[in-house]
Formats: sequence, C-alpha cells, structure tokens
Amino acid sequence: MDHKGFPVLGLFGCLGLLLLTLHTVHGDVVYSLPEEMKRGSVIGNIDKDLGIKVDSLSTRKARIDTEGSGKRYCDINLSNGDVTVADRIDREALCGKKASCTLKQELVLENPLELHRISLHVEDINDNSPQFKKETMKFEIRESAGKGNRFRLDEAHDADIGQNAVQSYSISTNEHFNLNVIAKSGGGKYSELVLEKELDREEQQELTVVLTAADGGRPKRSGTVVIHITVLDANDNAPVFSQAAYKATVPENSPLHTVVITVTATDLDEGVNGEVTYEFDHISDETNNVFSLDEKTGEVRVSGPVDYEELSTYEMQVTAKDGLGLVSSCTLLIDVKDVNDNAPITSIKSLTNPIPENVPAGTEVAVINVQDRDSGENRQVRCSIQQNLPFKLVPSIKNYYSLVTTAELDRELVSDYNITITATDEGSPPLSSSKSVQLSVADVNDNPPVFEEQSYNAYVTENNKPGSTFCSVSALDPDWRQNGTVIYSLLPGEVNGAPVSSYLSVNGDTGLIHAVRSLDYEQFRSFKVHVMARDNGSPPLSSNVTVSVSITDVNDNSPQILYPAPEGHSFMTELVPKAAQGGSLVSKVIAVDADSGQNAWLSYHIVKSTDPGLFTIGLHSGEIRTQRDISESDNMKQNLIVAVKDNGQPSLSATCSMYLLISDNLAEVPELKDMSYDETNPKLTSYLIIALVSVSTFFLTFIIVILGVRFCRRRKPRLLFDGAVAIPSAYLPPNYAEVDGTGTLRSTYNYDAYLTTGSRTSDFKFVRSYNDNTLPADQTLKKSPTDFSEVFGDGDGFPEVRLEKTNRLNLCD
Ligand SMILES: *[C@@H]1O[C@H](CO)[C@@H](O)[C@H](O)[C@H]1NC(C)=O
Ligand SMILES: *[C@@H]1O[C@H](CO)[C@@H](O)[C@H](O)[C@H]1NC(C)=O
Ligand SMILES: *[C@@H]1O[C@H](CO)[C@@H](O)[C@H](O)[C@H]1NC(C)=O
Repeated sequence: MDHKGFPVLGLFGCLGLLLLTLHTVHGDVVYSLPEEMKRGSVIGNIDKDLGIKVDSLSTRKARIDTEGSGKRYCDINLSNGDVTVADRIDREALCGKKASCTLKQELVLENPLELHRISLHVEDINDNSPQFKKETMKFEIRESAGKGNRFRLDEAHDADIGQNAVQSYSISTNEHFNLNVIAKSGGGKYSELVLEKELDREEQQELTVVLTAADGGRPKRSGTVVIHITVLDANDNAPVFSQAAYKATVPENSPLHTVVITVTATDLDEGVNGEVTYEFDHISDETNNVFSLDEKTGEVRVSGPVDYEELSTYEMQVTAKDGLGLVSSCTLLIDVKDVNDNAPITSIKSLTNPIPENVPAGTEVAVINVQDRDSGENRQVRCSIQQNLPFKLVPSIKNYYSLVTTAELDRELVSDYNITITATDEGSPPLSSSKSVQLSVADVNDNPPVFEEQSYNAYVTENNKPGSTFCSVSALDPDWRQNGTVIYSLLPGEVNGAPVSSYLSVNGDTGLIHAVRSLDYEQFRSFKVHVMARDNGSPPLSSNVTVSVSITDVNDNSPQILYPAPEGHSFMTELVPKAAQGGSLVSKVIAVDADSGQNAWLSYHIVKSTDPGLFTIGLHSGEIRTQRDISESDNMKQNLIVAVKDNGQPSLSATCSMYLLISDNLAEVPELKDMSYDETNPKLTSYLIIALVSVSTFFLTFIIVILGVRFCRRRKPRLLFDGAVAIPSAYLPPNYAEVDGTGTLRSTYNYDAYLTTGSRTSDFKFVRSYNDNTLPADQTLKKSPTDFSEVFGDGDGFPEVRLEKTNRLNLCD
C-alpha cells in the first residue's frame, strides 16, 4: 500500500473544505480517500468541517457509529477532532468492480444528541496486476492450418478498475503468430493468435509463446501466460522410396516364400499419415501369380512358380501409400536366373523306316532335332547314340543332327535296331533325356539259297515204287518272305540218254525227290542230277547242288547159267580123259547174276550125279574136278545136275545139266561138235571162242527178239530174256570191280516205267520202255567190242561178254 498520504490529503483537504462547506448546509460531511490508507491517517477534522468545538467533544461523548452492523473504518481523535482511518479499506474487497465506492459512517454527539453522516468515498489505486486464469495455455494446431487462422486466447483479469484494469496484450516474438487484441463491447479486452506463417510439424513439433497482459496504471502492472502450441501432423509428406528403382535376381524354381528383395519407403508424417503400405501397381496376372508383396513390410516374395523359360525378367511398379492416400512409386526389376531344369527334348523330324539293307554307308536315315529350353550352358546339348551300331549322329545345322549309316546293313544279321539317342546338356548337374528310334531293315534279295549240304547222296533200292520218295534236299535262304522262299527244281540233264525228269522229280516246295519210275540197279547203279534252288525274289537268285543217286541192289535176278546151257537144252558134252587124275579140272559151270554183291555171289552145288563120288564142284568157282582117279569101271557117260544159287535173301537159283564123257577119243562120240580146248594153242582157242560167241550171240539175239515181242505184248515188266549182258562200265562204280572177278555178267533189262511230265505234278504217264545202247568197256576179249557191234548190228540188247579166268568156254545152244 502506498501511504504517501499528504499530497493526497492536501488534495482531499481542499476538496474536503469544499465538501465541508456543502455539508455544513446539510450537516453531513464527505471525505474522499484512496484505498489502503494506513490506520491512523487523518482524513479530516470535524472542528473545521462541521464547526464542532473540540473541547466539547469529550463532554459530548462524540463517537463514530456505523449503520447497522457495518464495520467502522474511521475514528475521531477527541483531543483535536481529527478523523482518522480506523481499519484497512480495500476497495476491491468492498466494492469490486463498482465504479464508485462509498462507505457510510455516522458521527454521534450527545447532550444534545446530534447526528452527522460521514461518507467515505474510496478511490481505486493500481494495486492489482492483470492475471490469467491458468499459468499456461495449450493449443494443438494442425500443421495444415492456413495463414490467417485465428486462435482465441483467454482473457486476463485485473481486479482494479478503469485505467488500472487490463489495457493491452502482447506476445513474445515468434515466427508464426501475431496477436490481435479485441475490445469487448461490455468493456474489457481479449486477444487472439493469428497465424502468419504456416507451421511444419516435421520442422518444429512444438512452440511456446508468452502472452503478456498490461494494465494502464501508474506504474503499470502486467501478467503473463505461457502458450504451448503443439503442431499436429497433417499428411503433407508422401512416402519416399529408398531407391528409385530396385533390381533383384532370383534363381528360377526358388521355393515359395523366398524373399527376393525388400522395398522400403519412408514417410515423415506420423501416425496414420506415416504408415506406409506397399502394393504392386497394375501388374499382369502372371506376375501377380509369381511374386507377392507384403503390404506392411515391403518384402517381395516368391508366391508361385518362377520359370525362367516362361519369363526371364519381370518389371513392375511398386507403390507406397500412406494412411491418407499419398502415393509414390518405384520400379522393381527382377531378373530370373536360369537353372538347368529342362532336359533336352529330342524329336525325330524325319525317319526312313524301313531302310533297305543295301543302302551305302553314309545314307541318312533320320533327321533329329534337339531342343533345350534353358539358356546359356544349360542349353548346350550333346547328342550321342549307343556304341557298336552301324549308325552315327552327324551334327547338322543348328540343333539338327543326321543319323547316318556307317556301314552296310545286313538284314539277315540284324533286322531291327533300337537306336537310343541320348541328349545331355552342359548344365551342372547336366540333364539328359533319351529317345528310342526303332529302325527296321528292309530286305533285299541278296542271298541265294544255300543247300544245307554241298552234295547229296541218295540211296534207292531198285524196283522202287514210282512216286516213292528217296531223298530230300533243302536249301536255306535267309532273305525275307518271297526273297527267301526257296523253290526247288531239277536242272535239265540226261541219264542214259533220257531226260533226267523221266527218272526223278523234285517237289518244288519241299525239296523231296521222288522217283518217277522204278529204277533198275542192273540198268545203272548211280547217276547224278542237279537240283536248283531258286528264291522268289526279283531277280531271283539260285544255287545248284548235285544229288548222287545210288541204286542199291535187290536180289531180283536169278543166276544165269551161261555154260552149260540150262537143263533140257544142252547138247554139249564135256570130254574127260580117262587118264584124268583125282583133282584135275574137268569143266566149269559158268553162271552170272545180274545183281551185285551178295545177290550176285554165286555158289555151285551138285544136286544130282550119276556117280556121286566122282566129281566135285568148287563152291564158288564152279569148277568141276574129279574127286578121284578115273577108273575103267566108271561109267563112260556121266551126268551132273548143278544148281547155282546166289547169296541173296531169299536166294534165287538155277540148275543145269552137265554131260561128261569119259573118253580119250572124240571120235567115240561123233555127235559132239565142240572141241577140246587147249591152253597151248591160244590162237586156235581164240578163233574157237570167236566162232562160238558169234554163233551163240546170233542165236541169243534171235531169241531176244522173239521173246521181246512176246513179253511186250503181255506187258510184263520182268525179264525179257536171260543171258543178255549189257552194262556199260561207265555206269559202274569202281568198287564193283571185285564183283567182276566172280565172272558175273550183267544184262540190261527192259521194263515198264512211269514217267512224270514235270517235276511238280503227280500225273503219271505210261511210257514205252527202252534200252540203253550198250557200250563195251572191257578189254578182256581180244577182239574190239565194236567188231561185235558191226557184226550184229546196232540192235537192242545185244550181248557183251566179259570173261575173266575162263579156261574153256563151251556154249550150249
Ligand atoms: C527295341 O525296343 C523295343 C521296345 O523298347 C523292344 O520291344 C524290342 O525288343 C527292342 N528290340 C531290340 C532289338 O532290342
Ligand atoms: C525282296 O527284295 C527286293 C529287292 O531285291 C525288294 O524290293 C523287295 O521289297 C523284297 N521283298 C520283301 C518281301 O522284302
Ligand atoms: C547251275 O547250273 C546251271 C546249269 O548247269 C549253270 O548255268 C549255273 O551257272 C549253275 N549255277 C550255279 C550257281 O552253280
């Protein structure tokens, strides 16, 4: 409280005098005084102001009273009549905001009772500062707030009135705000903040300004308040990617959820405004199926099959968006790295199948294409086929290969090839695949039929049935189907002057050789035919084989007794010298058998004799010898019946009679025509033989003709006549020579036979029998055999006689 009361008192004193004057009239007095004067301060004098004498005050018990129960604010000094302040006078407490503040007091005097009103007019002094309600003010202003935006501030209050109340506001200096002070219509003032420059949360998140309110007192008083301004975020920042473009590489076939790359965008804003979400921007479905983007973290992961072969580079836009939709984007490039995941694929572009076996080496068989969908090394493909095949792969243009032959093919060795083409790429690990090509080799008729044997020997028993099979030939042709179908046929040839087909036929399909007619060992023992095997190719190939047919003998010929003539026809008699000693050769039975071997091995037996003890016959030589010396008592005429048997099964036999005359003199038997034969006279013997042979041959020829005619008519395929001999030695195998040693003669036979007209029909025809002309081949006889031919003509069946070891030959007629 300011108590510089005197100047004020002086002022109020003058005023009091003026008032006093006024109150004198009414008996009242008014004192004006500032509030908060010290107790005891004199504010007036009742003597002067009211004219009441000081010395009477005590006696008149002068005192101050209040109206009602009000408080007493002044006092009277009874000794000098001064009116003094009795208590603290606080205008604000007593009167608040009232413009005038008057306190009513009464001066009471007794004896006589006198009442004077004393009004204390309290005046304001600036004893209060302006005050704000709170010490701080808080504001939240969005950074997006625009220029000129106003923010009303709390008003400051000052208990004083008038000039001492709040008169002005000011704020501390700052960049953003100005202050605008507004007077209220009912008095008082308030202020507002005016935004002069936009806020930026990202630059300054909070700011503080101080607001000062000042009054108009003297001296001035002021009050302040701190204004806290929090700048609220506005979405004024778009997300920003850390790179404008991202590049990543991912191996193909990466497993699902593999992280490829993480894109990052930052947003300076906070809260929702700074929450960045990522997404792909307009991407194709393929990409979408392959990669996924985590919208929160920005991780790009594999979400589907990554196939380099499908797509090797992905380019996409990634956008980042904050909570309220500010967007930015970047480019993401993903390169797919090739992995060797594709095996080469082999395809056959063309194939010559089947391929003829005769194509030259180097012929192209197939064209092969190899593809590998990978790239780089993984795409490099090597092709191979298995070893040991007559084929190779020749690289051609680009991915093409030719499969060519490296050698001649032989269908008969290998008819099918399984060629496995293996393609391997150069990746690591390499992948490979293989493909099989089945190749058949087509046949070409390049193999002639080949007989299983180099030559064939056939044995046929004579008198075989026509049509019987006695041999088979077989040839193989490894070619295919008709190129390997073998057809057999007889090559034309002659046997004994007749076509070979009249003896044999061969079954074209089976190679079985049939006799066309009955064969006769006595006619010829063997012959050769050539059989051809031909395939059905075009042109056909063929080969020949020789079939040697050997006819085996059957005991079908009885021994033929040449000498002496058969029983009943003999006119010949042998002379036995009387002086013949035991063991001397008397005669010889000469017999032949047209058969051979055992069938022609003749044995001689004396069946009946006049004197059984006199003669013996050599079992095999036929030589008749005396068994003992001839005695005078022996009968001059001796008769022997000799049987000649061959050794066949069953054996055949013939008999003859031999007449022996025991005499030394031919004259004793004048009817005998033959002469003794002397070894010492070979020349005579030769003539004799020639003569005898000639005669007998002529005779026999005659008989042959007669009998031949007769037998032909009877169609009897048997012997025409006995004794005819004609076997050309050319037809005799050498091993038959020892048979000759037995003195056997061979004869030809006429017989009927069936001939076939062709090798492949079974249609037999009866054909005329015939005889081969015989050719003498032996030089046993001194004369050349042709001489006989000349003598007897070239007729059928003329005899040829071959004799060895013959001492004596007598022909019976
Ligand atoms: C070729 O292959 C086929 C099928 O794989 C098989 O049936 C045939 O026997 C094979 N041929 C050869 C000659 O290996
Ligand atoms: C037989 O060989 C010929 C060539 O010599 C050939 O043209 C033909 O196709 C072959 N036949 C068969 C059935 O293989
Ligand atoms: C087969 O015989 C015929 C006739 O004699 C002959 O022309 C041909 O060359 C022979 N063929 C062979 C393969 O011997």
